[in-house]
Amino acid sequence: MIETRNLTKKFSKLVAVDHISFNVKRGEIFGLLGPNGAGKTTTIRMLSTLTRPTEGTATVGDYDIVKDDNEVRKLIGLVSEKIIMYDRLTAKENLWFFGRLYDISKEVLNKRIDELLELVQLGNWKDIQVGTFSSGMRQRMNVIRALLNMPEVLLLDEPTLGLDPQSSVEVREFIKKINRENKTTIILTTHMMVEADMLCDRIGIIDHGKIAALDTPTNLKKLVSGADTTILELEIANLTTNMVSLIQSLKCVSSVSQDNSTHIKVHASGDDAFDTIIDAIRAEKGKIASVKNLEPTLEDVFLHITGHEVRDKADQKIPMRRHRRFMPVRRRVR
Ligand SMILES: Nc1ncnc2c1ncn2[C@@H]1O[C@H](COP(=O)(O)OP(=O)(O)OP(=O)(O)O)[C@@H](O)[C@H]1O
Ligand SMILES: [Mg+2]
Repeated sequence: MIETRNLTKKFSKLVAVDHISFNVKRGEIFGLLGPNGAGKTTTIRMLSTLTRPTEGTATVGDYDIVKDDNEVRKLIGLVSEKIIMYDRLTAKENLWFFGRLYDISKEVLNKRIDELLELVQLGNWKDIQVGTFSSGMRQRMNVIRALLNMPEVLLLDEPTLGLDPQSSVEVREFIKKINRENKTTIILTTHMMVEADMLCDRIGIIDHGKIAALDTPTNLKKLVSGADTTILELEIANLTTNMVSLIQSLKCVSSVSQDNSTHIKVHASGDDAFDTIIDAIRAEKGKIASVKNLEPTLEDVFLHITGHEVRDKADQKIPMRRHRRFMPVRRRVR
């Protein structure tokens, strides 16, 4: 449904999007996952014909984004980072205003607006001014606005940015529903690992304008576990900075992060990494209260592939740790 070939955007010397190539199948939810400034919005802007590529090509439903931009626009719905909505108009008036920009009969539009408002549980709010809506409600309005022309392709740029956890869940469930019920092909950008993991059939990890890896979430995680990586979360009752430095200095250890005064997370590799770490802590008279062998998260994948973490303000709003699934302890400390 979507194909990009060496798609590139330069802003004078800065290469914002650097020769990216990927395909999105019909009916698929494809995620572009990357940190601030990675080139996600620029990619979406090129695909939605809002800005022209400097180099390379892309097609949406076999239409070229430059030569056939009018045809492309008929196929797509765009949810941009910024919510454009008139506060003094009601929910229905807003959708009516934007809907009239398309070639849709008044009768059909009227019916569609009612259906879409019901779909996102805003039916009872249709005659209320949007200015009184919560951010979650506004974002749901923002998404259905992009659905007024029943697009075959939906481009979502950070659809849950700035939403509280509850509203994020609502918007994500809604995205799944549109995909399932209408077979809509979706590209979504996010810097939230949980979101990419939950929603996407496949993910392209984008960093500094380049696609660093592209696969299903499961296969991406195998990149880490397949690379013989052990991720341990240790609770050490008498943890000291010395002990942390010592663990850090072990040959098998690639990184140590400290969560609080007693908890550390250790990335290590090699068959005997587990025993080496435990022995080292024991030798320092460390009192190990618990050890968990963690399943790699997409955050680990990102670190593994790019050598740095995805971190920014919005991440801090919804800490990744809270969403992390812990695996039962597989190996016991002898
Ligand atoms: N119109 C522009 N003029 C100059 N530089 C730009 C322009 N738009 C984007 N950039 C730069 O291109 C790079 C990629 O920006 P882009 O907005 O695509 O990143 P992003 O992945 O969407 O980031 P974020 O997570 O912050 O939204 C950044 O370095 C940005 O400063
Ligand atoms: Mg962006």
